[in-house]
Amino acid sequence: MRTILTMVNVLALALLLSVNLACDKKSTDSNDEEQEFVATTQDFKDYKNWTLKATETGPDPFLKTAHGVNDNFTRKIFFNATAKASNGEYPVGSMILKELTDDQGNVQGAFTVMVKRGGNFNPDGNGWEWFMVSTDFSTVITQGDNATAGDGNCASCHSAANVNNNGLDWVFTR
Ligand code: HEC
Repeated sequence: MRTILTMVNVLALALLLSVNLACDKKSTDSNDEEQEFVATTQDFKDYKNWTLKATETGPDPFLKTAHGVNDNFTRKIFFNATAKASNGEYPVGSMILKELTDDQGNVQGAFTVMVKRGGNFNPDGNGWEWFMVSTDFSTVITQGDNATAGDGNCASCHSAANVNNNGLDWVFTR
């Protein structure tokens, strides 16, 4: 009787262990899926040390009056080190900032920023978070997902980057 009980105990223990191991595995997997990068304006301060990907002047077919555009302004687009697209999308932690300067080189308007936040954030926009922040980084003017940021205007215009080879993963510049 005692041996049977011990065997039952051992079996129960083994079962418990395997369930635990299975749970551990599952939680690691779901952590991967929920990996999220939540940026604050402080994360953008260093943008001048990121890679300058493009310098634009003059009109752009998509831009119209967005981004406080003025044909005399220079638009510089900076990518952080993580912002390297592979398999058609940017990884979580990618940050892309656009700066406007006048013909004297003075920063104008506000910074527009895209952050690949990932996790469960903004599934309609492949995990991007849209920001517009004051040029001293003290104030967030707008922030959020496709529907909320800029009353939906950021995403509705940037969706054009996803078609006709205009850009990649909501980003025009590449
Ligand atoms: C009417 C169209 C339009 C709207 C609205 C718009 N953008 Fe853009 N955006 C562009 C275009 C076009 C570019 C490409 C660079 C250029 O020509 O200046 C761009 C560039 C950018 C970039 C650099 C990465 C890239 O896609 O090239 C960021 C970051 C950005 N926009 C953020 C925003 C945010 C945040 C908003 C909303 C607050 C917004 N944009 C609203 C058209 C738009």
